[in-house]
Amino acid sequence: MSMSGTRPSKEPVGVLFVCLGNICRSPLAKALFIHYANEEGTIDRFDIDSCGTGDWHVGQDADPRTISVAIKNALPFSHIARTLDHADFDRFHLILAMDHANRRTLLSRGAPKDRVHLMRSFDPRLKDVTGPELDVPDPYYGGESGFDLMYDMLRAATRGLHAHLMR
Ligand code: 4NP
Repeated sequence: MSMSGTRPSKEPVGVLFVCLGNICRSPLAKALFIHYANEEGTIDRFDIDSCGTGDWHVGQDADPRTISVAIKNALPFSHIARTLDHADFDRFHLILAMDHANRRTLLSRGAPKDRVHLMRSFDPRLKDVTGPELDVPDPYYGGESGFDLMYDMLRAATRGLHAHLMR
């Protein structure tokens, strides 16, 4: 999708980041995208949020390890977890799944196929990659290094996404 197409310039582009629990990957993706949009002066053009396909953590702050990785990288971060709502399919033009399982769940819940994309498909280094390599692995049950890897993957993919939307 291009920012300059037929969409009226005043209507914000809805961008929703989706993972399983909404306490690790998608909150970090949201914070990174907000950070780049602020840096580029484009924040007013977007309606940005994140959610989980699961509801175990609704109302909670992010995982402490997600907060730590944000602090370590001086990334402004605040979060309250929420779960996917059917109204999200109208509100958001781009729905970014962190992995193939999230994508499958979104489609099974009725998300419009043309709005659902894998997050890492916007990483310019992965232009010709398909399959599980496009997943941002779920770091929840792993160690701290998984959170650093998640940060690096999401940094590249959210930058790529922002560049794509500005094209
Ligand atoms: P996320 O990670 O989907 O990146 O937020 C997870 C967080 C919590 C759980 C699973 C994944 N959980 O099973 O509670």
